[in-house]
Amino acid sequence: MTTIPEQGKVYIRTFGCQMNVYDSEKIYAFLQDRYLPAATEEEADLILLNTCSIRDKAEQKVYSLLGRLRGLKNTKPELLIGVGGCVAQQEGERILRRSSLVDLVFGTNNIDKLPEIIDERVTTGRKVCRVEEDMDSVPSAAAPLSRSGNDPTSLLTIMKGCDNFCAYCVVPLVRGREVSRAMSEILDEARYLVGNGVREITLLGQNVNSYHDPETGAGFIQLLEKVDGMASLERLRFVTSHPKDFSGELVEAMAGLKSVSEHIHLPVQAGSDRVLKAMGRGYSRDEYREKVALLRDRVPDVEITTDIIVGFPGEEREDFEQTLSLLEEIRYQNAFSFRFSPRPGTAAAEMDDPVPDDTKRPWLPELQEVQNTITAQKHAALVGEVVEVFVEGFGRRDNGKLEGRTRNNYIVHFTGDSGLVGRSLNTRVVRSHKIHLEGVIVT
Ligand code: SAH
Ligand code: SF4
Ligand code: F3S
Repeated sequence: MTTIPEQGKVYIRTFGCQMNVYDSEKIYAFLQDRYLPAATEEEADLILLNTCSIRDKAEQKVYSLLGRLRGLKNTKPELLIGVGGCVAQQEGERILRRSSLVDLVFGTNNIDKLPEIIDERVTTGRKVCRVEEDMDSVPSAAAPLSRSGNDPTSLLTIMKGCDNFCAYCVVPLVRGREVSRAMSEILDEARYLVGNGVREITLLGQNVNSYHDPETGAGFIQLLEKVDGMASLERLRFVTSHPKDFSGELVEAMAGLKSVSEHIHLPVQAGSDRVLKAMGRGYSRDEYREKVALLRDRVPDVEITTDIIVGFPGEEREDFEQTLSLLEEIRYQNAFSFRFSPRPGTAAAEMDDPVPDDTKRPWLPELQEVQNTITAQKHAALVGEVVEVFVEGFGRRDNGKLEGRTRNNYIVHFTGDSGLVGRSLNTRVVRSHKIHLEGVIVT
């Protein structure tokens, strides 16, 4: 029979959005009495997959990774494998039936119960599935305040779930209704992070603009003001802003609060009113354009990124061309674009689609080409300029180079030593690349 090691090692593979990245940090914290973080899957006693079901491809990745773990489990039978996150929330027991490798399944609201779930698996010898069906419940227990690693940047969840039910989206089904965390709790966590060396915080929620403190009713702007006031916090970011709730007040906060960075992720999804309506997004193309114009007027250096879905049911070539023309007009810094993927339980999965797949298939690469050109032009325009960056650490791509970000979200790689991490400095941009800029430190 499996026994729990005195001090085992846990490896977490995280898929999907920053919600999951944040949850994985919390999972480490809930397990910290029994498991240290493992550097590789091979040295782990417990492997957890924190999964994403936003698109079919994301879900497929989970099953193919499980397949690859079979060899490991064969050589180390006491290894425990768990699946959590959004696929677990949606699929529950079906995961246990589909993959014999999985020992435990836990939902998005159950990460605080993981120590118990692991105990149950080990003491009863039976596989465990713990997924809460009632997703309208109160927020899950706060994790112990903790921080793995020394990154000067950190995520902080301010709310969970979503009430918007965009026709294509699985998030309300796997994360439940929108629930805001108490502002006092958020501020405690922010103070803890800043007190432990964090200089940049990103506030997380599916729709941060609708945050409201359950204790006092205070809104997102008040939260921004409170966090902005913390001494030694250099930068404050937030994702995601839903365009329908993006307000003039938020524009003023971005213009006025010193740590709030000049970048906003404002997912438009489509440029055609007909498609926006079918998606249930709650704004028109012109309303979106007006909000962007106001923002650019008040925050001149602002850069905007977006998400686009291509090939929504019923989308015709002329709708798609409206999206292209919006990209050309707004000139986003970057656009994350996806082919529509029907998700079980969503309204769009039931919609008829008279437009053939063959017609739609070339659209995504066409759109990406347009955006790549815009991004490349923006990058090229910065060559020769001096830009201030906040040094986040050593980049993953460029071995040995430091990676920093400008307030308005450009990534700059440059040579320097580890003592610079967590500081702001000036760099001159010497070359532009697809994703990042290359710079040299200006002394
Ligand atoms: N809360 C955020 C988005 C979260 S999901 C918002 O409201 O914008 C991240 C992105 O995944 C979405 O912006 C959308 O572009 C994409 N996405 C979501 N569901 C999808 C689906 N069924 N098919 C393709 N892309 C999808
Ligand atoms: Fe999904 Fe829409 Fe909610 Fe964003 S706002 S998480 S796209 S339902
Ligand atoms: Fe994916 Fe769940 Fe995030 S579905 S995008 S990990 S909320």
